[in-house]
Amino acid sequence: MKPGREVIVCRNESEIADCLQVRRGVFTVEQGIDAAEDLDGKDSRAVHALARVDGKPVGTARVVIEGKTGRVGRVAVLRQWRKQGIDVALIEAVKKEARKRRVTEYILDAQISATGFYEKIGYVKTGREFMEVGIPHIKMQKKGELNGFEEQSFAQTQQGTTQDTRAEQGESKTAFC
Ligand SMILES: CC(C)(COP(=O)(O)OP(=O)(O)OC[C@H]1O[C@@H](n2cnc3c(N)ncnc32)[C@H](O)[C@@H]1OP(=O)(O)O)[C@@H](O)C(=O)NCCC(=O)NCCS
Repeated sequence: MKPGREVIVCRNESEIADCLQVRRGVFTVEQGIDAAEDLDGKDSRAVHALARVDGKPVGTARVVIEGKTGRVGRVAVLRQWRKQGIDVALIEAVKKEARKRRVTEYILDAQISATGFYEKIGYVKTGREFMEVGIPHIKMQKKGELNGFEEQSFAQTQQGTTQDTRAEQGESKTAFC
């Protein structure tokens, strides 16, 4: 990483607050996604990574762990800092942490405009395009990972926690990136 740049795995509330600030800048201000859609109740059990330049938050990504599967999401880099390798470093940081927790498969719902980025780092498209928060998305997974994976049944077998239970715990079912 260039001098003055760093990517960290968040360890406290203030670092996660910096991630949420970047997400507001990209998803709500730039892309017009309702902030309530972004705060889906999953952040408290996710691994978050934060990128900073000269101490200022410029990018973030998270992975929500479900057994051996990690759902990558909320991937955002402020416009002026894009195409400089920051997102690659963010995804690697959350995956390094997830690997310590025995995660071996990665899935995500990618915005169509970002699929080129994920294909560059080895993800492949699965399934058909769908609309989420008014933006076209498609499911992607990292090569070599499970096919025909039914997330809900996997979560039930692995953790005995269903989407419904998570909904009861205040988590939304919206799965934009
Ligand atoms: C998608 C996004 C996170 C990429 O972040 P970034 O920091 O610019 O990505 P990087 O610089 O690490 O890119 C790594 C490589 O992918 C390429 N790349 C980046 N974004 C790309 C895109 N949208 N399509 C195709 N290739 C892309 C880069 O050019 C770079 O290629 P190189 O290695 O040949 O130089 C950023 O554009 C963003 O925040 N977009 C708005 C929010 C969004 O769409 N988030 C993802 C939702 S799924």
